[in-house]
Amino acid sequence: MCGIVGYVGTSNGVDAVDVVLDGLSSLEYRGYDSAGLAVPTPSVRVHKTEGELSALENTVPRDELEGALTGIGHTRWSTHGPPSDVNAHPHRDEEGRVAVVHNGIIENYQRLRDDLIDAGVTFQSETDTEVVPQLIGRYLDRGAAPEEAFRLTIDQLEGSYAIAAVFDGSETVYAARQDSPLVVGLGETGTYLASDVPAFVEHTDRVCYLEDGDFVRLTADDAVVTDAEGNPVDRPIETVAWDPEDAEKSGYDHYMLKEIHEQPKALRQCLRGRIDDLDGAVDLEDLADLDHEGPVQFVACGTSYHAALFGAERLREAGVRAQAFLASEYASDRVPIDDETLVVGVTQSGETADTLRALREAARAGATTLAVTNTVASSAARECDHALYIRAGPEIGVAATKTFASQQLALALLAFTLGDGPTREELEALRDIPGQVRTVLETTDARAIAEEYADADAYFFIGRGYHYSVALEGALKMKEITYRHAEGFAAGELKHGPLALVTENTPVFAVVTGDDETARKTIGNVKEVEARDAPVVAITDGESDVGRYADHVLEIPAVGDFGSSVLANVQLQLVAYWVANLLGRSIDKPRNLAKSVTVE
Ligand code: F6R
Repeated sequence: MCGIVGYVGTSNGVDAVDVVLDGLSSLEYRGYDSAGLAVPTPSVRVHKTEGELSALENTVPRDELEGALTGIGHTRWSTHGPPSDVNAHPHRDEEGRVAVVHNGIIENYQRLRDDLIDAGVTFQSETDTEVVPQLIGRYLDRGAAPEEAFRLTIDQLEGSYAIAAVFDGSETVYAARQDSPLVVGLGETGTYLASDVPAFVEHTDRVCYLEDGDFVRLTADDAVVTDAEGNPVDRPIETVAWDPEDAEKSGYDHYMLKEIHEQPKALRQCLRGRIDDLDGAVDLEDLADLDHEGPVQFVACGTSYHAALFGAERLREAGVRAQAFLASEYASDRVPIDDETLVVGVTQSGETADTLRALREAARAGATTLAVTNTVASSAARECDHALYIRAGPEIGVAATKTFASQQLALALLAFTLGDGPTREELEALRDIPGQVRTVLETTDARAIAEEYADADAYFFIGRGYHYSVALEGALKMKEITYRHAEGFAAGELKHGPLALVTENTPVFAVVTGDDETARKTIGNVKEVEARDAPVVAITDGESDVGRYADHVLEIPAVGDFGSSVLANVQLQLVAYWVANLLGRSIDKPRNLAKSVTVE
């Protein structure tokens, strides 16, 4: 949902244009319909273009900008105004004295714009953002100094923003945040600013997360954080444990494939220190002061909602009353909530607007809130009463893969903490999951299945219980990266309507594990689609005889219970990946999507 970058280098620092372009390439997952940058010295110069970052890289006149010490940049996922050169950021005031990049939405922009137009200002773009430099320009006209003009402008904005600005001839970046992430990096040869750490982690691991209402002034060797009144604010400097390689492709063709293969590591990280005592309880240090016995409601979107469905199922199995809600549909006045209720936001980014809104509403209604997130110091983590980190490491591909697996495991740990504690066998089973995911990755036939069915009319996914959430997730992965029609169904629902869609050109992926009543029922559904000539791909641990009715089998180790959902999902991720690859899709940056959706 737009990424911003800023840099002020020392005289022996890195070329600012390099830093900004490299930073933007690490943030492209946040938006990629247009991109731009500005350098302020000797005077403000802006280069921007519609299209992916590569289009900007091809148009930036490197010779002219060589040696720039300061710069800001932006990669856009459009909200107000379609993708175009003009609507790309940075935006300037009429005189071109200031350049501004923005992530978020300025809700009162129409009124501000109308006032400025009445005052004779001519706008270039259709964006909400352009009111910011135009307002700053008005204050400069009246004699305000750059910082004052910036502050007076920010004061007038309503909505969400992470904004950075540079002024003519000044090696300084000014920035402010409200409801959109912004983090400062303190390096040896300069000071950095970005929507997310990967943008500068190759230069420094010393970071400072800004909070809502913060202003920051970046110079080559300092970052001064103040509040709206200009009083200094102390924000702790933290050291991030990210390896710069985590934010690179490391030889894989796509981040998505790399991240699918990183799942064993991500899951080990998620478990580290949490299940060390196989004869004891799960040890969630993050939640040491959470003492909860009442009902649990999950709120989440997209893939995280599928993890929430899985988590709710797991909690119910552990004896806790639990439900999962789509955050965009959640309204605390329609859902019974009281101070006994724990509302859990599942959000890898911690910045999803729908999920944050639902959590805030729940908190207002008296609930205790918990964020299950991958992002330290994200809005969800900071605003909720408690935070449980899934520790998946940075995920760059827009399609969530390793964060989903880590959410599944973190929620399984949560269930053992809030509900019935685990047996030794259950802890052993949890401990073994990362290795079993590795086995799936090493033995999968997903690519062959993708080759067989790359031309299918549509793809259907069915499962029951835990596997229902995986069926939904399998279909979402398939549709978002292949642009093909895909649907996930509770297996029992097929005969209530969707069966009408099934033909010999609609493969059905059935997740069937174990050999119990649930498996037998799903096998019954498999027979129903087989009788209508649909090809069947069974994702199975081989415990049942589903292979007899399937055209193909994707095997997973027999682990029983919820763990098999984690493994089955890996097979479905890989099928979606290989179909998208065969179709030549933009796998890491699917059309129309962005990783962090900070608008409702
Ligand atoms: C799909 C995907 C999205 C996100 C959703 C919520 O691959 O990534 O559906 O799951 O936008 O995002 P978070 O988890 O950041 O709240």
